[in-house]
Amino acid sequence: MKTEKNSDIINEINRLKKEKNAVLLAHYYQIAEIQDIADFVGDSLNLSQAAQQTDADIILFCGVHFMGETAKILNPKKKVLIPDMQAGCSLADSCKYDDFKQFKDKHNDHLVISYINCSAQIKTLSDIICTSGNALQLVNSLPIDKKIIFAPDKNLGGYLNRITGRNMLLWDGVCEVHQLLNAEHIIQLKIQNKDAVLVAHPECNNSVLELADFIGSTQAMIKFIKQSEERKFLVATESGIIHQLKKDNPDKEFIVVASDESCACNDCRYMKMNTLEKVLHSLQSEEYEIKLSEDLIKKAQQPIIRMLDMSKSLGLIK
Ligand code: 13P
Ligand code: SF4
Repeated sequence: MKTEKNSDIINEINRLKKEKNAVLLAHYYQIAEIQDIADFVGDSLNLSQAAQQTDADIILFCGVHFMGETAKILNPKKKVLIPDMQAGCSLADSCKYDDFKQFKDKHNDHLVISYINCSAQIKTLSDIICTSGNALQLVNSLPIDKKIIFAPDKNLGGYLNRITGRNMLLWDGVCEVHQLLNAEHIIQLKIQNKDAVLVAHPECNNSVLELADFIGSTQAMIKFIKQSEERKFLVATESGIIHQLKKDNPDKEFIVVASDESCACNDCRYMKMNTLEKVLHSLQSEEYEIKLSEDLIKKAQQPIIRMLDMSKSLGLIK
C-alpha cells in the first residue's frame, strides 16, 4: 500500500542503497512493497545467480535465513544482511546436521542432492544443491543407476522420483505452507471454477500435484501463466507470487489456493516477517549480518557452485 509514511521510508531506503552501494534482492514471496523497491526479484535459482554476480558492497537479502546464508557463501568478502534473523524456514529446520550426518553415513555409497532450502551446515554434507527451478534437469543429468539421497523436501523428492522413474532416498521434511494445501479444497475450487487452470509448486504434496495442469518453480509458474492463452488460474503456492502475476497479466484472474475456506491467505510466516521498516533499519544499522566461518563457507560453496555450473551448461541460466 502506498502511504505518505511508506514513501518516506522508501525514499530513505533508496538513498541509503546508493550511499552504501547496497543491492536489495527479494524473493517473490516478499510483501508487494518490498518486491517493488528491490533491485532484483526472483525465485531461489535466479536469486542465487544474482547474488553470485553482484558487484555491490552490501547485499540486503529480503527472503529467509538460508537465502542470506547462500548469498554469503557465494560472496565471502561482502557484507550480507537480512532484515530479520528470525526469518527461518520449516524445511531447513526439518533437517538438522547431526541427524542428517547419521543418515548420510548409513548410506555412504549415495550421492547427496540437497534442495537449497537447507542450512549452510547441511550444504557442507551435500554433493549438489538444487532449487525447484533446476532439480529435474540436474537429477536427469546423472546416470539412472546412481544412488541418490534427496533432502530435505520429501514432496519435491517424491515428485522427482515419480517423473524420472528413480528411487532416490528421501529425507522426511516439508514446507509447512505448501504441505497445508489439500486436494479436497482444490477439488471444490475446481468445481466452482471449471474454466480455471491449476498451477502448483512441487513443494505441494502428491494429492495436490496430481490435480495440477502445470507444476513448476515460482519463476516457471510466472512464465507459464504469462505465455498462456487461458484467463483464469488457481494458484497453489505462497501468496506473494500474486503480486508479480497481476503486474504481468492485468487482464487475467487469479485465485490463490489456501488451505481451506476460512483462510483468506496463504502466507509463509517467515517470508512475511520482513517489512519496509525492517529493511530501512537493516540499511541504517547494517544489521542483521550473516556471519559464517571460513571453513563452513569453503565446504558449503562447492555444491552451490556445482549447481550453478551445471545449470549453466544445461542452458537453464546464462
Ligand atoms: P522457488 O523459489 O525455487 O520456487 O522455491 C520456493 C520456496 O519455497 C522458497 O522458499
Ligand atoms: Fe520455507 Fe516454505 Fe517458507 Fe519457502 S515457503 S521459506 S520453503 S517455509
